[in-house]
Amino acid sequence: FNVPPARNEPIKNYAPGSPERESLQAALAEARSKQVDIPMFIGGKEVRTDNKSPLSPPHDHQHILGYFSNGDASHVSAAIDAAMAAKKDWANTSWENRASIFLKAAELIAGPYRDKLNAATMLGQSKNAYQAEIDSACEIVDFLRFNVQYMTEIYKQQPDSAPGIWNRVEQRPLEGFVFALTPFNFTAIAGNLPSAPAMMGNTVVWKPSNTQIYSANVLMEVFREAGVPDGVINLFFVDGPTAGEVIFEHKDFGGIHFTGSTGVFQHIWKTIGNNIYKYRSYPRIVGETGGKDFIMVHESSKAKEVATAISRGAFEFQGQKCSAASRAYIPSNLWEDVKNYVIEDLKSFKMGGTEDFSNFINAVIDEKSFDKIAKYIDDAKASDKVEVIAGGGYDKSKGYFIEPTVLLTTDPKYTTMCEEIFGPVITIYVYEPKDYEATLELVDNTSPYALTGALFSADRYALEVGIKALENSAGNFYINDKPTGAVVGQQPFGGARGSGTNDKAGSMINLLRWVSPRLIKETF
Ligand code: ALA
Repeated sequence: FNVPPARNEPIKNYAPGSPERESLQAALAEARSKQVDIPMFIGGKEVRTDNKSPLSPPHDHQHILGYFSNGDASHVSAAIDAAMAAKKDWANTSWENRASIFLKAAELIAGPYRDKLNAATMLGQSKNAYQAEIDSACEIVDFLRFNVQYMTEIYKQQPDSAPGIWNRVEQRPLEGFVFALTPFNFTAIAGNLPSAPAMMGNTVVWKPSNTQIYSANVLMEVFREAGVPDGVINLFFVDGPTAGEVIFEHKDFGGIHFTGSTGVFQHIWKTIGNNIYKYRSYPRIVGETGGKDFIMVHESSKAKEVATAISRGAFEFQGQKCSAASRAYIPSNLWEDVKNYVIEDLKSFKMGGTEDFSNFINAVIDEKSFDKIAKYIDDAKASDKVEVIAGGGYDKSKGYFIEPTVLLTTDPKYTTMCEEIFGPVITIYVYEPKDYEATLELVDNTSPYALTGALFSADRYALEVGIKALENSAGNFYINDKPTGAVVGQQPFGGARGSGTNDKAGSMINLLRWVSPRLIKETF
């Protein structure tokens, strides 16, 4: 059971003039110079249709990177048929073979595909080079390597036996197929959601977000080159309602691995419930959904550290992380300093396209997101409960650019303190230090989510009080650090309440959701 020890992939820094920067810039130029014709991939075959949609960089929406083929219900059915046809052979493939395929995928991404996948993430999703590197190089590689290790640990765990009796567990894959429904914001999540169930011997149908298809296409190329057999991972581009109708009605639907909005997940859960009599087994429902992630600060904290957590935690990748800090509670003794440090940080954040590596802030993913975020900002400007401390500007003429925006409110339940915005907006509420415990209660009961949160304090007693008061407020809880940037193998990621099933991406808990154990007792 010894697989190569899982190690976090080291982050490259793409320093000016470095060979790695030159090589990534060449990959960007190459990708921009052509238009790809992206196929679906079903049963080992590329499938194209005449109904094609263009893909553009969010920061340069008039440039066309390529087209993808839109499928319909027949493609969803074909993907399910292919998954079911491949199922038996894949389930009977030895774990060593499955491990080696996904370890190879990890090494392909860490090596020859690194620039191509990073460039696709930078252009398709508007991540800057460093954020792409963390996501589409390191995190996906880490998911693959660590999951292989967790897989072997799962297979290793066996019950006790007794003389004359041999007890053993077979970790069989689920009986049906698994549906991976993946988001735009992390290429790593898009790669992890199909590969984790597939690693455990399941076959998968995979629908990426339309706004991530450009990098999903490269992930699929990697899976193919790594040797994932035909029919094991089937990729299609079909609108959600059409896909859902075919998948959730199917008797062989075995489970869903989801990351996306809370509303969509709740709708899916309800649909599965309505169809429950149709299925052979109770489907596994694993989902990571929304967040309204907080930074709660005690008066003993250092203003500079808090400010850095706000600027990085709220604005990296334009706040389009389910983990992004979007509300902060600052004691009045620290507010002036925190405010000044944040304003200073924001002055150094250049905004623009990802091809210029000095830009820290890029564009939000699409026009729909842009309009939604701009509306929150406009409403805040019009409210007498809110003051715009920084940012507040936006412009979609070339790309979907929104300035990092800091709002200060006098109402701790103002809309932007409660609702998920999924953009570069953070709202601050300033409280009196004597109200620390009451403010902890506010943090806990202001939103329906419980994904990530950060607590700052140099006072150990206050910290203990906060840790206890916020015990159900975040699945990933950070002390004296920003609430983003979980590292696979170190901080397994996921939240509860409205934020998901808390099955911790990149963990043994997650992989155990993709097996249905058979206990065998043999008596001699
Ligand atoms: N896993 C990502 C983070 O922690 C979402 O920021």
